[in-house]
Amino acid sequence: MSPISTRKDGKLFWIISDNPPVNALGHAVRAGLAEAIAKGNADGGVQAIIIACDGRTFFAGADITEFGKPLQAPGLPEVCDAIESSSKPVIAAIHGTALGGGLEVALACHYRVAVPSAKLGLPEVKLGLLPGAGGTQRLPRVIGAEAALGMIVSGNPVGAKAAHAAGLVDKLAEEDGLRDAAAALAKEVMDRDTHPVTSRRGDKIRAAKEDPGLFDRFRKDNARMILGLDAPEACIAAVEAAVNVPFEKGTALERELFMKLVTGDQSKAMRHVFFAERMAQKIDGLPKDTATYRIERVGILGAGTMGGGIAMNFLTAGIPVTMVEREQAALDRGVSIMRKNYERSAAKGKFKPEQVEAAMGRLSPTLDFEALGDCDLIIEAVFENMDLKKDIFSRLDQVAKPGAILASNTSYLDIDEIAAQTRRPDHVLGMHFFSPANVMKLLEVVRGRETTPAVLATAMAVGKKIGKVAVVSGVCHGFIGNRMLAARQEQANALLLEGATPWQIDDALTSFGMPMGPFQMADLAGLDIGWNPETTSSSTVREVLCEQGRRGQKTGKGFYDYGEDRSRTPSKEVEAIIADFARKSGKPPRDFTEGEIRERLIYPMINEGAKILEEGIAQRASDIDIVWLYGYGWPAWTGGPMFWADTIGVGRVLSGLERHGRALGEDFTISDRLKTIAEDGRRFNG
Ligand code: 3HC
Ligand code: NAI
Repeated sequence: MSPISTRKDGKLFWIISDNPPVNALGHAVRAGLAEAIAKGNADGGVQAIIIACDGRTFFAGADITEFGKPLQAPGLPEVCDAIESSSKPVIAAIHGTALGGGLEVALACHYRVAVPSAKLGLPEVKLGLLPGAGGTQRLPRVIGAEAALGMIVSGNPVGAKAAHAAGLVDKLAEEDGLRDAAAALAKEVMDRDTHPVTSRRGDKIRAAKEDPGLFDRFRKDNARMILGLDAPEACIAAVEAAVNVPFEKGTALERELFMKLVTGDQSKAMRHVFFAERMAQKIDGLPKDTATYRIERVGILGAGTMGGGIAMNFLTAGIPVTMVEREQAALDRGVSIMRKNYERSAAKGKFKPEQVEAAMGRLSPTLDFEALGDCDLIIEAVFENMDLKKDIFSRLDQVAKPGAILASNTSYLDIDEIAAQTRRPDHVLGMHFFSPANVMKLLEVVRGRETTPAVLATAMAVGKKIGKVAVVSGVCHGFIGNRMLAARQEQANALLLEGATPWQIDDALTSFGMPMGPFQMADLAGLDIGWNPETTSSSTVREVLCEQGRRGQKTGKGFYDYGEDRSRTPSKEVEAIIADFARKSGKPPRDFTEGEIRERLIYPMINEGAKILEEGIAQRASDIDIVWLYGYGWPAWTGGPMFWADTIGVGRVLSGLERHGRALGEDFTISDRLKTIAEDGRRFNG
C-alpha cells in the first residue's frame, strides 16, 4: 500500500504521507507524491493542494538507506519541480521536523504553515552532503544568501518562530490546529491570480549580488569549522551559484556536487556514523521494551574532576543530585568549579542566569554518606584505587535503598570485583564518563557479569536522558576506549625511543583530524597523575619530566613549552631528555615519515579493536567507532577507527602490522579476527 493517500474536501485536495517512523522520502513516498500532485492538478474541482504528514513528523529528509543504491525514479528534485509547477497553489503543513529533503519539499510548495514547536533545517552537511533537491537554490531565494549559508553550512535547524520571522514560514498555526490553519490559508490564497514560486524569486538574493565579498568572508570566518571537510565548501559554492547564475544552472551544479559527495568516502563515513549512533542504543538479547527503573534522584561520590562534571549532566537535565565528599575543602572546591562552569556557559549564552540558579539549586552537597540512602542511582567517582572502591561499594550496599543502582566511573578497574563487595551484584555496573564529563558525549555502560537487563537498560536510558551517546562494553582492563588508547600509547612511547619526536607523533594524528595527539593529551591531563615524588626513580621520560617540574600545561611546560595562550612549542630540553633515554635503550635513532608514524599508532588500535570484538567486549564494530568518535574526538568524516580500516582495507592493516613486526613490541600479537576478516576480504562493519 502506498504511504501516500489523498482526500478531497470541497475545493481542497489533501495529500497525506504516513511512512513511520519519520516520513523519510523513500521511493514509495516520492512516487506517491508525484502521482498525487498530478491527480490534484487534473481534477477541475480542486483549487488548492495541502501536503501534510501523519505520525510524529513532517518529512525528516531523504531516505538515507537508499543512498549509494541505484536511484529509483522519480528523484526528489523532479518531485519538487512538479510541486512547484503545480497550477494550483500547494501548501506545506509542517509539524515535528522538516529536514533535508523534507524542507526542500516545503520550499517547493507555494506556502508554508507550521506549528510553533516545528523545526526546519537542511542537515545534509552532517552526512557529508549538500541539499540535493534544490535546497541550496531555493532557501537563499526565500531567506537571503547569508542566512541560508548559515543554515546550510552548519546544518543546524531553526525553530518555526525564527523561521516565521525570517520569512521561511508564512503562517504559524496553533500547536494543535495545524490542519485547520493550513486549510484556512489554502482558502485565503486559492482565488489569487499568482502564487509565489520560489525558483523565480530574486528579491532576497539581491543583497548578496551587491556584496561579492560575502562568500570569501564566510569561508574565512568559518575556516576552523570546515577544515578537512568536503561538504561545506560544496554547500558554499552552490549557494554562491544561487546568487550568481540562473536557477536551472544552479540546480545542475547542486546535482553534480551532490553526486560527487554521495559517492565519496567522507559521506559514506558520516552516514555510517548516523546509523552507528542509533545502533549503539540496541543491546543484543535485550528486548527494546525492557522495563527500566525510575531515576528521580542521583547520588555522586567524589566532587573531583569527574564527580563535578557528571553531576552537572543530571542537574542540567532537571534531576536532583546528592553529592558526597570525604572532606569539606574538596566539596567546596568541587561545587565552586561547577558553578563557575555554569556561569561560563551562561556568559556564552548557553544558559540563562535563572537556569544556572535552578540547576545549582538541585544540588545537595554533603559529607554525610548516609544521605545517599534515598538515591535511585549512585555513581562513584573517587580516586582510581581498587581497595578504596571496594570499601566504598560495601558501604554503599549498606546505605543504598533496595533496588538502587550502584555504578562506578572507574577508568580501568574490574567491575565484577567491585560488584562482589555487595549483596546486589545484579544492580552494579560501570558508567564511565569522559572528561570533561559535562561536555563529552560518550558514556561507556559497563555490563558486569551479573548486571540484570533492567539495570543495564536503565543506565542506557539515563544516558540518553542526559544527552549522552551510550555504548555497552563488557568488563576488561580499560573497557573499549581506554584499552585501545593504551595500545596507541605503547607505540607512542616506543616511537620516542626510536627517534620520532613528541611533536612529530602528535602532528601525525592532528593532521589526520584528531583534536590532539598522545603527548598533548598527557600535558593537558597532567604528567603527574599517578606519579609519586617520594618513590620516583627517573626510569621513564615522563618521570624525569615530572622531576624537572615539567608537569604539563598547568605548570606551563611538559612535553611542550606553553605560552600564555596555551600555544605549544617544541622543547629542546625535552628533546635532550628523550635522546638520553634513546641512547640508553641501545636503538639507533632514525627518521620517520608521517605515514609510518600514523600506521604505528593507529593499526595497533584497530588490532586491539578486533580483539575487543573477538572477546565480545563490544557488541559490534560500529560501537567501537562511536566510542572513539564521541569519547576522543576521532574525525567523523573517517567514520571511526574500524570503519576507517574498512575504507582503507583490513588487508592493508594486516600487512602493515606484519611489516612493522618486532617494532610493535615483544608481546604484540595480531588478532585472529583481524586476520580472518583480512584474508576473507571482508569488513568489520558488515
Ligand atoms: N532516512 C532513513 N532512516 C531514518 C532517517 C532518514 N532520513 N531519519 C531517521 N531514520 C530512522 C533512524 O535510523 C531510526 O531508525 P531505528 O529506529 O531503526 O534506529 C528511526 O528513523 C528513528 O530515528 P531517531 O532515533 O533518530 O529518532 P529521533 O526522534 O531521535 O530523531 C530525527 C528524529 C530528528 C528526524 C532524526 O532521525 C534525524 O535527524 N534524521 C535525519 C535527518 C536528516 O539528516 N535528513 C536529511 C537527509 S539527507 C537528504 O534529505 C538529502 C536531500 O537533500 C536530497
Ligand atoms: P579526582 O582526584 O579529581 O577526584 C576524586 C575525588 O574523590 C576527590 O575530590 C576526593 O576528595 C574524593 N574522594 C576520595 N575518597 C573519597 C571518599 N571515601 N568519599 C568521598 N569522596 C572521596 O579524580 P577524578 O579524575 O575525578 O577521577 C575519579 C574517578 O573517575 C577515577 O576512578 C578515575 O579513574 C575516573 N575517571 C577519570 C577521568 C579523568 O579524565 N580524570 C576520566 C574517566 C574516568
